[in-house]
Amino acid sequence: MSRPIRIAVLASGRGSNLQSIISSIEDRRLNAVIGLVLSNKEDAFALKRAGTNKIPNLFLDPKKYSKREEYDLALAQKIKQQGADLVVLAGWMRILCQTFLDHFPDKVINIHPSLLPAFPGQNAQKQAFEYGVKYTGCTVHFVDSRMDTGPIIAQQIIPILPDDTLEGLTDRILIEEHLLYPRVIQFFSEQRIVIEGRKVRIE
Ligand code: GRF
Repeated sequence: MSRPIRIAVLASGRGSNLQSIISSIEDRRLNAVIGLVLSNKEDAFALKRAGTNKIPNLFLDPKKYSKREEYDLALAQKIKQQGADLVVLAGWMRILCQTFLDHFPDKVINIHPSLLPAFPGQNAQKQAFEYGVKYTGCTVHFVDSRMDTGPIIAQQIIPILPDDTLEGLTDRILIEEHLLYPRVIQFFSEQRIVIEGRKVRIE
């Protein structure tokens, strides 16, 4: 087997996607090493999950930086120190500036709880539910300096049922996120992701 892909995970909240990545590595469904978990929130449960699993983790306080670029540069430096083949956003609630992205070209990915380009931004599940679409889902995409607009790598469709509740739908989307994200990271590990302009091919 080839060497495991080394990833850095950026998370602002509860970290259930981080947990799914940790569990997939443990179950050997994902050939990866998490070198670092970073958060912009001191109380992010994602940091606790990392600690419990003996993964290096760090709270980087945005208040200590006067400009967004300076903060993002500090983030990039921390990630570079640990070395990462891929930067994985898992509930990261800040837009990353181009300076950060330039350090990791085609190496920053995100998961979003809708079928992009529909319903970008916050509360995507609620947006889809209230709009009345019959299908929504989740999307893994490359990150660019705008919100949820980068090239799409993979999507999972989830139907919205006639008697659905927002809570039920949100739970079902999350279950699919936990399956899709580790699978896509494994494709990176196997070097099967090819990006051509806006189009992404999985070989
Ligand atoms: C997920 O719904 C993900 O799609 C979105 O933020 C949420 C993060 O959840 N980007 P968690 O922190 O991984 O539990």
